[in-house]
Amino acid sequence: MLAHENAFVSGSAMAKKLGISRVAVWQHMEKLRQQGFEFEAVRARGYRLTSKPARLEPALVRAYLPLRRRSFTLAVLDSIDSTNDEAARELAAGRADPFVIMAREQTQGRGRLGRRWLSEPNGNLYASFAFRPRVAPARMQTFTLWMGANICELIANFCRVAPGLKWPNDLLFDGRKAGGMLTEARIDADQIRDLVFGLGLNLSTPKGGWPAELKDRATALDTQVAGTLDVNKFAAALIGRVLLAYEKFVGGDHVEELADMWNRHDVLRGRRIAALLGSERLSGTASGIDEEGALLLRTDRGGIERLRAGEVTLQRPGNA
Ligand code: BTN
Repeated sequence: MLAHENAFVSGSAMAKKLGISRVAVWQHMEKLRQQGFEFEAVRARGYRLTSKPARLEPALVRAYLPLRRRSFTLAVLDSIDSTNDEAARELAAGRADPFVIMAREQTQGRGRLGRRWLSEPNGNLYASFAFRPRVAPARMQTFTLWMGANICELIANFCRVAPGLKWPNDLLFDGRKAGGMLTEARIDADQIRDLVFGLGLNLSTPKGGWPAELKDRATALDTQVAGTLDVNKFAAALIGRVLLAYEKFVGGDHVEELADMWNRHDVLRGRRIAALLGSERLSGTASGIDEEGALLLRTDRGGIERLRAGEVTLQRPGNA
C-alpha cells in the first residue's frame, strides 16, 4: 500500500498478493489503524492510505529500507533505560547480530564521560546498533569517526542541510550540538567480543524549550529544515547507511574515504581550540585527524600534538 500511496488498492488484490483471505486483510487493516494508520474504504474500489503515523513505527521503517539491507533485526521500544544498555543485554543473551534497538524515549540516556543524554519522548532519535566485529581492537580507533562522517553525509543528503562534525563524536548545526555518538565495546584479550554503537539525534526542539543547562549549546534538526521530517523514512535511511558503513569498516575499505569525508564536515579544522592532555591544558590550531583518528593540534609552541581521546573546546577570538 505504501507503494501505491494516494491510490485505491482492492481487498482482493491485497489478499491475493499476500496469500491470505479477505477477512485476514481486514484484520490486518484494523491492526494498522490501531498503530495510527488511517484508510479510506470505498466499496468496489478498496482501501486508500490517507495518513501514516508520525511516530517511529518498525513496520514503516522496514518498508522504507533498501531491499538489500534487510539482514538484521530491529526493535522499536516505547521506553527503555538506554538503548545502548538494552543492546548490550541482548548481545550478552546471545542475540544474533547485527541488530538495531530504537526507542521513543530513554529514561537513563547516557552520553560520553558519564554524562546524561536528554531523551524525552518528543520524536527524537535514540538508536543503538549491535555488532560482533572480527577485527583487532586497535583497528576500532577510527570507528566512531567513520560512523559520524557517514551519518553527517546522510543527514546532508537526506535533509539538504550542512551538519558539522566536532571531534570526536559530536554532530553540530551552527556551532550547537544536535547529536552525539557513544561507542561501547567489550574486549576479551586481543579480540572484540561485541560492540554497541549508539546515536542520539535531536530531531525536534523540546516544546517548552531546552533546559537551562543546554540552552546555549543544544539544537535540533527542525531548526534547519522546513516542514516535518518523516522519522520512519529517515530511520530507514540511517539504518541502511550505518550497516553499509559497518561492512566497509570491517572490510577495511574505509580508510581513504574517511579522510575526505571528515575534512568535508570538520568544524574544528583551522580554528583555535583548547584541549586537556592528561592534566596539561594545551591550546593551538586544530589541523584535522591522522590515520589513527587522533586529532592533530598545532600548538602555540610550534609542535604537533596528537590527541587520542578527550575533549576540546573552541576558543573565541581574543581568548587565550
Ligand atoms: C555524547 O554526545 O556524549 C553521546 C550521546 C549518545 C546518546 C545515545 S542515545 C542512544 C544511545 N543510548 C544511550 O544511552 N546513549 C546513546
